[in-house]
Amino acid sequence: MTNFYDQLTPFFHLVYKDWNASVHRQGEQLSALIKTEWSSSKKILDVSCGIGTQAIGLAMQGYSVTASDLSEKAIERAKQEAHCRNVEVSFSVCDMRKAHVYHGSGFDVVVSGDNSLPHLLTDEDILLALNQMTACLAEGGGCVISVRDYEREERGRNLLKPYGIRMANGNRYLLFQVWDFEGEHYDYTFFVVEENLATREVRTHAMRSKYYAISTGKLSELMLEAGLQNVRRLDGIFFQPVLIGTRGA
Ligand SMILES: C[S@@+](CC[C@H](N)C(=O)[O-])C[C@H]1O[C@@H](n2cnc3c(N)ncnc32)[C@H](O)[C@@H]1O
Repeated sequence: MTNFYDQLTPFFHLVYKDWNASVHRQGEQLSALIKTEWSSSKKILDVSCGIGTQAIGLAMQGYSVTASDLSEKAIERAKQEAHCRNVEVSFSVCDMRKAHVYHGSGFDVVVSGDNSLPHLLTDEDILLALNQMTACLAEGGGCVISVRDYEREERGRNLLKPYGIRMANGNRYLLFQVWDFEGEHYDYTFFVVEENLATREVRTHAMRSKYYAISTGKLSELMLEAGLQNVRRLDGIFFQPVLIGTRGA
């Protein structure tokens, strides 16, 4: 899995039509949610920040952001992306299943954005991560998780998930995934076809990983089991469903 994101890191921004605009938009959307639910929040921890989409966006909104990820390459790039935008985020490498051991507690909000938790393939592992995320929170602090809505996804094999065509640095990129389900899990290959428009040379990058297609209902149950209260699913405020919960006093 680490290898998957290490390989995907140079192309990750191409997942979005305009990554820069998404960083700003996601920062604004998450900030609006945080202000509504946990209004005096200042300190945020992102436990699966990747190249920094939510972490940089939130720092741009004025929060003090600490962020980590399992992928060393993603963290290297996140540091560069923050630096060239003059944004301060404390980035480091950490497995979210050890978030509390590594980061300690006292955070107002803990975030895991864009379907990162389902990379953990069992309920036990997801619960372990949720327990650690909850322990990172100050009393009354909030947990924000965004995930794919797997109840709306078709099951089967050879499922094609197109992302589209992007132009960058004189290259044309075609991005798509192919999914193969087995029970509640699926293997997927992320294809990035890179065409140099000057030389017409074509390179195909194929990266493989696995996901647990956990439902938001099951994930909500695990959040409650981890000690979070007032767990709710919010739709229409972000590009994916958002699950939130609050650490009790
Ligand atoms: C789809 S990406 C989302 C990254 C980021 N939140 C964003 O939206 O740009 C999923 C991320 O989860 C990270 N990840 C997967 N398992 C992890 C774990 N056990 N601990 C920390 N990060 C993990 C991956 O390295 C990857 O960066």
